[in-house]
Amino acid sequence: MGTLKQLRTQVGIVGAGPAGLTLARLLERQGVDAVVLEDRSRDYVEHRIRAGVLEQGSVDLLVEAGVAERMKREGAVHEGIELQFAGERHRIALSELTGGHSIVVYGQTEVVKDLINARISSGGPLLFDVDDVHLSDIASDAPKVTFRHGGEAFELSCDIVAGCDGYHGPCRAAVPQGALRSYERDYPFAWLGILAAVAPSNDELVYAHHESGFALLSMRTPQLSRLYVQCRPNDDLANWPDERIWEQLQLRLGLPGWNLAEGLVLEKGITPMRSLVYEPMQHGSLYLAGDACHIVPPTGAKGLNLALHDVKVLAEAVVEFYRSRSRKWLEGYSERCLRRVWRAEHFSWWMTSMLHRPADGNEFEIKLQLAQLRYIVSSLAAATSLAENYVGLPTV
Ligand code: APR
Ligand code: PHB
Repeated sequence: MGTLKQLRTQVGIVGAGPAGLTLARLLERQGVDAVVLEDRSRDYVEHRIRAGVLEQGSVDLLVEAGVAERMKREGAVHEGIELQFAGERHRIALSELTGGHSIVVYGQTEVVKDLINARISSGGPLLFDVDDVHLSDIASDAPKVTFRHGGEAFELSCDIVAGCDGYHGPCRAAVPQGALRSYERDYPFAWLGILAAVAPSNDELVYAHHESGFALLSMRTPQLSRLYVQCRPNDDLANWPDERIWEQLQLRLGLPGWNLAEGLVLEKGITPMRSLVYEPMQHGSLYLAGDACHIVPPTGAKGLNLALHDVKVLAEAVVEFYRSRSRKWLEGYSERCLRRVWRAEHFSWWMTSMLHRPADGNEFEIKLQLAQLRYIVSSLAAATSLAENYVGLPTV
């Protein structure tokens, strides 16, 4: 064991996903120093395929952070989505129903690439391939993060640690047993997602309820489709050769007179579905953000948007702390985030429950799903409720 090299920063950020990178960027713009530590390689982080729907508030935040140039050029503004059930498609006019709000379809992977480029151009510390990240003294106001990088061991002294290290990261695990409470719901299904080299067959996203299971048509670019089918939670990719995926997509999304164009499958993966919240989102000098403290099922695409909202609130609190030396804003962090977190938890659970085939095929539940879907497409009030949640509700 060599000597521990000493480093110092104001905010130690663990994890270079959207939460950690956006936080670093927002702090940098306000003159607060941070060091970002990521255990994966840059290449890995930049090629991990994730969701791709940005709420208006997320778009505004990326603009404010000065990382929206490519998103403005390449992202696609969507003013509606479609719901399909009982062999019919119905449009939910998001913008008309929400006083002009819309969403932008732009891959989380692309957001991450833009944030990494911005961080590297500004010269802010961002270390990939770090090992053995360990937190200590988080109960004090001088927390430390030790880690290994390039064969050397470091100790980073901070004022604040931001745990932006996703569900499996070490930050939440550093909180003493019993200090956090978890609230959880598992679902008896998962999504099998593909990225396919084919122009999207529809201009807007299609969420389909079908007796064979849920399917979703989404997109990344004019040449790239992103498609999902409901599968079993412990399903194996080996059970899903490309032909079976296309057959199920055709079946679940198909309509007379409409054709789903097929193309080369570039990427394939299974996304588990769960709802999970840890409260509070802070302990001592450690502040958790994004997937490190809450998970939503992907129906409704809230994960990335929640992560961005957390770090917006956290950045404001940190800046206020350095300006006033008062911890008041930091103390209110968790409470301010959790209201929005729980609203998104409810929406994601509701969309998920309404659209997926129940595992036991319970006919009563299926009748309820169809009744709710019919209500949404026939009641202005119900459609407006879905739309305002989908585009994102105001901050508080
Ligand atoms: N040390 C350093 N970094 C770590 C460690 C560790 N021990 N463990 C995990 N990480 C990194 C991961 O490799 C990842 O890059 O933390 C990062 C966490 O990023 P994300 O998982 O993307 O989470 P977050 O930034 O909160 O963004 C949430 O990601 O999972 C999706 O649906 C979710 O869209 C949402 C978004
Ligand atoms: C995606 O494009 O990956 C996507 C879109 C909408 C969702 C989930 C995922 O609800």
